[in-house]
This record gives sequence, C-alpha cells and structure tokens, in this order.
Amino acid sequence: MSKTPVWALVPAAGVGKRMAADRPKQYLPLGDCTVLKHTLQRLMASQLYAGIVVALSPEDEYWPSLCLSDTEQVYRVAGGRERADSVLSGLDFIALLGSVDDWVMVHDAARPCVTETDLRRLVEEVGNDPVGGILALPVHDTLKDVESNRIQSTVDRSRVWRALTPQMFRLGLLRDALREASRNDRRVTDEASAIELKGLRPLIVEGRPDNIKITRPEDLPLASYYLEQQRCE
Ligand code: C5P
Repeated sequence: MSKTPVWALVPAAGVGKRMAADRPKQYLPLGDCTVLKHTLQRLMASQLYAGIVVALSPEDEYWPSLCLSDTEQVYRVAGGRERADSVLSGLDFIALLGSVDDWVMVHDAARPCVTETDLRRLVEEVGNDPVGGILALPVHDTLKDVESNRIQSTVDRSRVWRALTPQMFRLGLLRDALREASRNDRRVTDEASAIELKGLRPLIVEGRPDNIKITRPEDLPLASYYLEQQRCE
C-alpha cells in the first residue's frame, strides 16, 4: 500500500432537490442518525486518512447537530455553487496542510453505505497508479441511446460502467484538472471527467452495488436495508 498521505474530501454542500424534503438530503434521518453522519463514520472508522475535509454550504444550519464539530480529524470548508466548486474549495484547503503528491479520495456525502473493504481496495489498487482511479460498477441492463423518446441505437454495454465514489487522484493533478475544466466552462459531475478532459485515463476498480447514492425518496429505505445487511457480514 502507498505510504503517501491520503485525504478524504466529502462534498456535502448540495441541496438535494430531487428528494423534495424540508432539508438537504445529507441531513435526512437514516437509521439512528443522518445520512452525512453515517458517511463520515464510515470514513473515520477506516483510519485511512490524514484528515477528512467536508465542504458545506455557507448557509448550512444543520452541521452542529451532527456533534462532530469538535472532532480533530474533520475539517469544514465552504462549498460552492456546483459540486466541482465544492471539491475545488476542499482541495485548496488540503493544499495548505499537505503536498501536491498527496492522494485525495473524494466521496459523496450522499453515499452512506460505502464499506471499509471498498475504501481499502481503492487505496491498494490506485495507490501506485500514475493517473488515479475510481470505484465503478459494470452495467447489466441493455442500454439505449434515445432522442425525442425514440431509440436511436443500442449501446455496447460491455464497455459501459457506472461511476461511483470514492474517486482517488493526486491533489496537484486533480486541482489542475478541475481548474482547467472550470476555465473552459466544461461542467464536470465527477472528478474522473476532469482528469479525462486532460487526456488521461483513470483506472476502474469494481465497487459494491450497495454503495448507492441517495437521490430520490425511495433510496432512503434501500440504504437503511443495506446498512442493516452489512451489519450481519
Ligand atoms: O446532487 P448530487 O447527488 O449529484 O450531489 C453529489 C454530492 O455533491 C452530494 O454529496 C452533494 O451534497 C455534493 N454537492 C456539493 N456542492 C454542490 C452540489 C452538490 O458539495 N454545489
């Protein structure tokens, strides 16, 4: 395993419109606490990180209720308008404490079911890679390319994977890539996209299907079920 420090960076500054809830989705109850607290507990329990940086909305009023504010290892920074802005803000903060060659694992606040096995596998498999890499899942459904509700073609699913988080890249490379994407007005929805725009090819590490992202109301009971199942493993 790489001896280079690894930082966790958790973008948690979104509003989660598709949940149509009274608060941002990362603060919705899940089991005995909130989505964000589960996510942070998973990261903290792994003891893999030099520090965990959480990007929060400047208007966030829920953070103190997590009772994590005084935890030494967790730092909070102000997030931005888009996810990529929140990640950049976290990277700028990590740059003050670490070096450009440090690894940064970016993990969505909205993925509370990530397992320690997956976190460790990513560090082991990506830790010596020149580019970096991400957890992803092969696609099993037949995929259609659609325009105006009409199928244009069938996509070759053997080449298609679903990008998950965490995504792990060197601090310097990721910061350059995200800054460049922003300068060129390229909207990126994950870290790998920014690295790809630089002409680089991130590594794929197969993750677990229960590492779901809470997006719609029906995802909460599903996450709760997965957390319960994982307790029995
Ligand atoms: O909206 P979506 O599910 O794609 O968001 C993924 C993650 O990015 C969430 O954890 C969300 O809180 C975070 N995010 C952020 N800053 C934004 C928008 C989203 O940190 N401006």
